[in-house]
Amino acid sequence: MPYILSTQAMDGFYGTFYKTTIAMRKQIAAANWKMNGTYQQAESLLNEILQAKIALKPFQEVIFAVPFPYLIMSNSVVANEYHYHISAQNCYHKASGAFTGEVSAEMLRSIGIRYCVIGHSERREYFGEDNALLAGKADLCLKNEITPLFCCGEPLAVRESGNQNQYVADQIEASLFHLNKEDFSRVIIAYEPIWAIGTGKTAAAEQAQEMHSFIRSTLKKKYGEETAAATPILYGGSVKANNAAELFACEDVDGGLVGGASLAADDFIEIVKALKG
Ligand code: PGA
Repeated sequence: MPYILSTQAMDGFYGTFYKTTIAMRKQIAAANWKMNGTYQQAESLLNEILQAKIALKPFQEVIFAVPFPYLIMSNSVVANEYHYHISAQNCYHKASGAFTGEVSAEMLRSIGIRYCVIGHSERREYFGEDNALLAGKADLCLKNEITPLFCCGEPLAVRESGNQNQYVADQIEASLFHLNKEDFSRVIIAYEPIWAIGTGKTAAAEQAQEMHSFIRSTLKKKYGEETAAATPILYGGSVKANNAAELFACEDVDGGLVGGASLAADDFIEIVKALKG
């Protein structure tokens, strides 16, 4: 839903009138490559997508969450592309120190990375990341001027028991609600029901809209109408070229976080084109 960005008094031939600027909140197609592809494949995939020269509106963005070793190359490939950004897929929850093999938010910042996925369900499941640890990652990202792309979403058993709203609200509250309004306004949320990730089972558009609208109302209670209306909430979980338009058309779905289908240029290009315009 469009929200009012500013109302400005203007003097003109017909006297003073008010010019109201209506802005769309950001609509984002984010690719999550996970642990796939070689450096060479990554470079050609990026180039192929850029060569499509998709006409993006000022409020539309494309983000590629690429493996750590490809961040610098990827950032230089999109350097002159205004609407394209590179994201890390993770960072560590401590600032620095003896944590062999880990990558800090400060390191990402130092190579010009401004986005980082945190709390992906695969990190929660396979690496034991919990809500409290993710709060630390959110803080470190924001401190380093990195936008956290915060993932939340319920497992199948929770959906079947009907408790998905409370489950997702708890994840968001525990990891993000300690942030002040200004910091929170830099966060992107991705709702990814675990039962839909990599399974080919997409949430129905109505299920996605229902949850996104619930998330937005949860944000509104904490941060107020304006912040809630401006926060991009992406849907993730088996987004494909043939279902993206229906999902993205939902009022509170502001684009998608796409795994499998982001690895094929043609598919991802169609998904980007499906963003709300
Ligand atoms: P998928 O993955 O599109 O392959 O379901 C989404 C994600 O895990 O971000």
